[in-house]
Amino acid sequence: MNILIIGSGAREHVFFHQLLKSNTKVSLFSINPNAAISTITKSLYFEFNFQNLKKAVIDNSINLILVGPEIPLIDGVYDFVKSDNQISDTIVIGPSKRGAMLEGSKDFAKEFMSKYNIPTAQSKSFTKETISQGINYLNKKSGPYVLKADGPAAGKGVVIVDKFVDAKAVLEDMLLNNSFGKSSETVVIEDFLSGIEMSCFVLFDGKNYLTLPFAKDYKRIGEGDKGLNTGGMGSISPVSFMDDEMSNKIDERIIKPTINGLINEGINYKGFIFIGLINVNGSPYVIEYNVRMGDPETQVVLPRIKNDFLQILLAIENQNLNKIKLEIDSNHYANVVLASKGYPESYNKGFKITGLENTNKSTVFHAGTLLKDKTVLTNGGRVLSVVSSSKNFIDALKKSYESISLIEFEGKIYREDIGFDL
Ligand code: AMP
Ligand code: GLY
Repeated sequence: MNILIIGSGAREHVFFHQLLKSNTKVSLFSINPNAAISTITKSLYFEFNFQNLKKAVIDNSINLILVGPEIPLIDGVYDFVKSDNQISDTIVIGPSKRGAMLEGSKDFAKEFMSKYNIPTAQSKSFTKETISQGINYLNKKSGPYVLKADGPAAGKGVVIVDKFVDAKAVLEDMLLNNSFGKSSETVVIEDFLSGIEMSCFVLFDGKNYLTLPFAKDYKRIGEGDKGLNTGGMGSISPVSFMDDEMSNKIDERIIKPTINGLINEGINYKGFIFIGLINVNGSPYVIEYNVRMGDPETQVVLPRIKNDFLQILLAIENQNLNKIKLEIDSNHYANVVLASKGYPESYNKGFKITGLENTNKSTVFHAGTLLKDKTVLTNGGRVLSVVSSSKNFIDALKKSYESISLIEFEGKIYREDIGFDL
């Protein structure tokens, strides 16, 4: 079976890693891969767009496309493949364009949650035309104020400020100066929720769903969760404060109504649903939907699943997820991300990475790396995900930090406090 994965970060490295363990013989194809992915797949190099993707699918007789990041899904890669009779037989794991709007438009997601009574922060959406109502709305609220660009903004579209004047300025900037381009033509203003966040992952085949292990990620660059937001500096799974009671609440109040809503709306959806949750005094609320797996959560969630990953993907396609019984490793997994100094702002790349061969206590997944003349170089903000497992998460973390001490590159930075809040 010929499998192409869109995306070339640590999340996709995990996907490839899991597929290599499949009992079915697979040929794996990547697009513009990082160093590690390039050594385990047939590497294709082209500028990513749908026409070039189609050519790659035809030239390499691709049977299945697994979509890692959200943008191709939001842009409608599923619909593109399914409506082109030269490639429409190719399996696509990922939702249709309409389904991807759960992530592609915060306004759409809010409407959806309101219609299906899914707990989330109270909110209202505004455009340039209704900006004065938006300012009035802010005026009636008290801080912290949460303002969200409606469209995709690479994780940067959410601004939280304490003072009304700052909130007003952000709203004006988003709506009048298009500070997030088209993505901030609509802005969602929502109530601030206070609690501990966690990530919930659901597989959905259009009829049946399966919930994967919960995880928690650490988004801020600085220790104690301070400083700028990043793609994620670490993650752990399982989440120690998750008990059966909480997990039942999430299932009944959030997952089931989401699934029923998607079915009721007639939305074509075969793929992952990633629900960002916040636990407000024992009640789960949805912070956001994503229509893909999370990064850096995938690095600690998928390795815990002992089932054949390809069989899971095929069950999504064949709508028989109900036949799959997940086998979960009860060990604790910890992932610490190594990044480039300066990230998430500007940073240099092209530095030689050494010591990777010594990290036998951990699995190292590559993100921003590049293989050049047999040397692994840094090639991005987030460079590596160092994942370890053990009976408890303190030991798992210890292993990751030991491995990190063996890996060197200029400008290596990481958080020393992953899991500090547990
Ligand atoms: P999002 O891109 O929607 O995940 O938002 C990014 C981050 O902003 C989340 O992970 C939360 O930490 C924070 N956030 C978003 N919405 C809220 C909210 N209503 N209350 C408090 N924090 C929020
Ligand atoms: N870890 C958050 C995300 O993947 O969006």
